Amino acid sequence: MIIEDIWFDLKDGRRALLRSPREEDIPGTLDYLVRSAGETEFILRYPEECGRYTPELERAVFERKNASPTEAMLMCLVDGRVVGNCDIAVLPHIKARHRATVAIALLQEYWGLGIGTRMFRELIGIAEGFPQVTQLELDFIEGNDRARRLYEKMGFRIAGVHPDAFRFRDGSLHNEYLMIRKMNR
Ligand SMILES: CC(C)(COP(=O)(O)OP(=O)(O)OC[C@H]1O[C@@H](n2cnc3c(N)ncnc32)[C@H](O)[C@@H]1OP(=O)(O)O)[C@@H](O)C(=O)NCCC(=O)NCCS
Repeated sequence: MIIEDIWFDLKDGRRALLRSPREEDIPGTLDYLVRSAGETEFILRYPEECGRYTPELERAVFERKNASPTEAMLMCLVDGRVVGNCDIAVLPHIKARHRATVAIALLQEYWGLGIGTRMFRELIGIAEGFPQVTQLELDFIEGNDRARRLYEKMGFRIAGVHPDAFRFRDGSLHNEYLMIRKMNR
């Protein structure tokens, strides 16, 4: 689905824009995906695993998300630069259509400015428009305290653990946690 322009103020006084992805966002998105993979251990890929990200793939993802009635992607732009994105997708199977997954990531220099909080407000608002969806779900890697605090603030609670789901380059093993937020229906 298409989400029209949402402007809001960052904690440092700058203005930020949330909206659905457009063709012109492709170069900035590729840069953000590779850069963010190198800035934090808390997303799935290392930078050298980002080769699958190509302009063609991003164009196809943007088109699919924008055309879908049960999925949305929101890009965040600051001073015209893609600084992160988030998305929501209702699970497709009949038995799982009451569930929607959400995901989010930002470039490091834009952490702590309130973008994540605003993105989650919008994602929850979009989910409220899916009458069949009764719960939102996400995963985070052990140690990602900033993400965990954001999710708890937005009403998510830990519902399960996948022990030793990830091994970082330094050899350390980390659990993955499932969080769920029940919709008030
Ligand atoms: C996790 C992430 C999306 C959070 O977005 P953000 O824009 O930085 O979050 P916000 O600025 O809205 O802050 C949200 C909450 O995080 C918490 N927080 C902020 N700074 C923090 C810090 N230094 N340490 C721990 N928690 C912190 C606060 O509770 C804050 O809420 P508050 O401002 O009302 O006090 C962002 O940091 C990010 O992209 N990280 C890397 C990728 C990632 O981890 N993605 C999630 C994968 S599960």
